[in-house]
Amino acid sequence: MKAVKYTAYGSPEVLKMVDLEKPIPKDNEILVKVVSTTVTSGDVRMRSSDFPPVAWLIARLMFGLFKPKKEILGHEFSGVVEAVGQHVTKYKVGDAVFGTPTSLATGSYTEYLCIPEERKKGVLAVKPTNLSFDAAAALPVGGMTALFLLKKANLSKGQHVLVYGASGSVGSIAIQIAKAYGATVTAVCSNTNAEMVQSLGADEVIDYKKVDYTTLDNKYDIVFDAVGKTSKSKAKKVLQPDGQFVTVAAITSPGQAHLDELKELASAGTLQPFIDKSFPLSVIAAAHAYVDQGRKKGNVVIKVAENL
Ligand SMILES: NC(=O)c1ccc[n+]([C@@H]2O[C@H](COP(=O)([O-])OP(=O)(O)OC[C@H]3O[C@@H](n4cnc5c(N)ncnc54)[C@H](OP(=O)(O)O)[C@@H]3O)[C@@H](O)[C@H]2O)c1
Repeated sequence: MKAVKYTAYGSPEVLKMVDLEKPIPKDNEILVKVVSTTVTSGDVRMRSSDFPPVAWLIARLMFGLFKPKKEILGHEFSGVVEAVGQHVTKYKVGDAVFGTPTSLATGSYTEYLCIPEERKKGVLAVKPTNLSFDAAAALPVGGMTALFLLKKANLSKGQHVLVYGASGSVGSIAIQIAKAYGATVTAVCSNTNAEMVQSLGADEVIDYKKVDYTTLDNKYDIVFDAVGKTSKSKAKKVLQPDGQFVTVAAITSPGQAHLDELKELASAGTLQPFIDKSFPLSVIAAAHAYVDQGRKKGNVVIKVAENL
């Protein structure tokens, strides 16, 4: 099977297509033929070892001091179950699934993945029929991060939520989650992405290149920093006295319940991950180079199986 490996930190050219043995599922595992995966900001950060200076050493100790420990990147996927181990009960051959390869030996830049039916870290579910394989692959990382942080901020009906950096993967799905909960949403993004965030449900759009949101008269129940480029001290200026600030710069720990809720919202037609571009696995370096620019809109998908 084909997979994409990196054995050294660096520019997108460190990503190399390799041939590997197709894995065989253990008794408690399913074998998934991967259809789509994505290039997340986490993937490019790990590939280039672009960690914040304060956390650099800890990150390198975790992910590999001199070279990456886990040589196959890819943080989310969708695919089709091709085989099941004899103790598997929840999935059957032919099921369309989506999830994250968290805690597995490899990421999802590969044609096949073996995944335990149950795992403490990492999520898996049957794909909503109304989501394409591309859209389903783009839901877990951004969606679970957004849902985890909005729940931490006690998102509820009738609130006014400001999403700072609303055009990224996390921001674009945060708009939709907040709307699904019955909130009013102000999206902060550049003018280029105003139409996009409005199409996702934003009630009001602020161009961060022209207006400093902290000078606004409005007061918000939640300020959600979806790109890690604002701060609590800035947000305080526009927060209600009991308002909440949450940020993607914090460590998040979403789990299966978050994926299940996203799945429900998607099945009801309330969520639709925004896809900016799609690339075949063979040119994944070009996809990484694009995401490296930090300007992607929503999600960048990698098509692993072309015919599905
Ligand atoms: N904590 C977690 O568990 C977790 C999980 C996932 C992601 N993250 C982090 O979340 C951050 C966002 O990731 P992502 O993939 O959602 O975003 P992304 O796609 O990398 O963000 C790109 C978007 O951000 C916008 N942007 C860039 N600079 C901006 C600024 N100064 N103000 C407002 N918008 C700006 C860009 O729009 P313009 O081109 O118009 O500026 C672009 O659309 C990353 O730092 C990532 O590492 C954290």
